[in-house]
Amino acid sequence: MTRRPRRLRRDGVRPLVSETDLSADDLIVPVFVDATADERVPIESMPGHERVPVAEAAARVREIRETGIRVVMVFGVPESKDPRGSRAWAEDGVVQRAVRRITDGTDASVITDVCLCEYTDHGHCGVLDPDAADDPVLTVANDETLDLLRKIAVSHAEAGAEMVAPSGMIDGMVGAIRGALDDAGFADVPVMSYAAKYESAFYGPFRDAADGAPAFGDRRHYQMDPANAREAVREVALDVEQGADVLMVKPALAYLNVVRAVRERFDHPVAAYNVSGEYAMLHAAADRGWLDLEAVAHESLLSIKRAGADLILTYFAEDLASRL
Ligand code: PBG
Repeated sequence: MTRRPRRLRRDGVRPLVSETDLSADDLIVPVFVDATADERVPIESMPGHERVPVAEAAARVREIRETGIRVVMVFGVPESKDPRGSRAWAEDGVVQRAVRRITDGTDASVITDVCLCEYTDHGHCGVLDPDAADDPVLTVANDETLDLLRKIAVSHAEAGAEMVAPSGMIDGMVGAIRGALDDAGFADVPVMSYAAKYESAFYGPFRDAADGAPAFGDRRHYQMDPANAREAVREVALDVEQGADVLMVKPALAYLNVVRAVRERFDHPVAAYNVSGEYAMLHAAADRGWLDLEAVAHESLLSIKRAGADLILTYFAEDLASRL
């Protein structure tokens, strides 16, 4: 036989021909900062993760830095909620305070999630459309929400965010935020768009962690239909036109074809968000002794990169980086 693929699988050769690498530089750790907590609170459905008080934000990020990871994504749980989510853009809001502490107290880079669902009392990702008040699935008023997203992004940049990441799937959000950042003197702050974000049941544990579940209805009028892949390419193209710097697909594992499609169509860096449910299910199976956690976590992240992601947001980041 002249062709024997197995020759390249011998231990001495295999690493040389490996096509995909994972490195701490490609990983981003989500961090939950909770303005209502005075001590760290473990998140039950996301083993190893916790909500930390603002005072602990820098300490938490220093732990992450020890694994070699440089970048965190900050999510906030505010002290109070209202219909417009006004604590999301407050100068003394939870994310704004946490970002100041992290940038003062560590050398990490901070990305902030720009959304309203953790800040509105109804849990939707924007202000509600009053005309839809008797609709069983109330819908978010798109263009009114853009004004709020502008304010949130600028307040995050003022606090020291290195990059902002709008996650609300509001039409025009990237362009609105880009314009607001430019006008406020933050032309150098990039926008990582949650460009193709699906209405996914895999966000369950996160919604407990960040207290951002919708109080009624669901998000299917603004997040994407899991049935659609071609539509993702159209969604992403709009964000590219509006000036997105990094394009994210979310979730990751169940949407690897979308990661691949975005990789093939665009030259921008592609990010994938390996979401809370993807993390929780591997932990749950490993707890029962059904899967080897380290092995499946590594294989999952490798697969996300192989599909075409340059960066990965993942709750496995610290475990993986400490083993690299
Ligand atoms: C919304 C947001 C969500 C996640 C990140 N940003 C939740 C949602 O859209 O309902 C989910 C992340 C995860 O599940 O790990 N601001």
